[in-house]
Amino acid sequence: MRVIEIIHTIAKMQSYADQSRGKGNIIVFVPTMGYLHAGHLSLMQEGLKHGDDLVVSIFINPTQFGPGEDLDAYPRDLERDIELVRKEGTKALFTPEAKEIYGSHYQTYVALDKLPDHLCGISRPIHFRGVATVVAKLFNIVKPHIAVFGQKDYQQLIVIRQMVKDLNFDINIIGAPIVREPDGIAMSSRNSYLTPRQRICALSLYESLLNARRLVESGEKDAVKIIAAASDLIKSHPETTIDYIAVCDSETLDEVQIIEQPVLMALAVKVGTTRLIDNMILKP
Ligand code: PAF
Repeated sequence: MRVIEIIHTIAKMQSYADQSRGKGNIIVFVPTMGYLHAGHLSLMQEGLKHGDDLVVSIFINPTQFGPGEDLDAYPRDLERDIELVRKEGTKALFTPEAKEIYGSHYQTYVALDKLPDHLCGISRPIHFRGVATVVAKLFNIVKPHIAVFGQKDYQQLIVIRQMVKDLNFDINIIGAPIVREPDGIAMSSRNSYLTPRQRICALSLYESLLNARRLVESGEKDAVKIIAAASDLIKSHPETTIDYIAVCDSETLDEVQIIEQPVLMALAVKVGTTRLIDNMILKP
């Protein structure tokens, strides 16, 4: 049976990292908020291709949830998660309490200037400040050489890449492809909120991306038309409320009107009360 070290304190995690580095290991880090699914496990598998000491964190980070969001309801199952990460070959699991990460009088945040003013950042104005802050802290605690993030949270991935570049973290960031359920829906811990009926409606996110890809591949260049087609498709399903559908530059996230090179199409849709996101690169 594989042994996994379960660590709750910053001091212990940092000393684990120092020892691992001292032995010459390459530390690969997969930060998560738990309630793991095959998408998370694929990040761990990708990580192990690049390093030898896989460290996973499970921490539901309060600073990335806005008022009225699902912080308290966020699904949790630590015992099952421990079993899953152990099987993937994780050597250490860091799972601190919020008060360990944000001590009393906490007051330092990492906020990016431009990237959060797009896509999810518009309806979730403090989200990326919370993500960048906790990830910067986790990087200082886990001291990884490499960290793996999923492309499903595309904006998060490029926010982290930008932060790493701007703040000179000596960490290589790897983006891993979206993992989908057999029916095509992007894996997410939040899928567990969906009723069977809502799940069918949730498929419209992926269907609208596939449809956009077909349109672009057959010569459509007008982003307005592509967005309108996606919007019509999603709205034809009950219980869907579109937050945004965007066609944008894959690095700056600025909107693109005429598609002449690969672009990012990203969307966020509420199905019932569950907010889902998905994205795809469209290539003309
Ligand atoms: O993607 C997530 O699960 C979270 O945003 C992350 C990166 C673990 C930070 O809390």
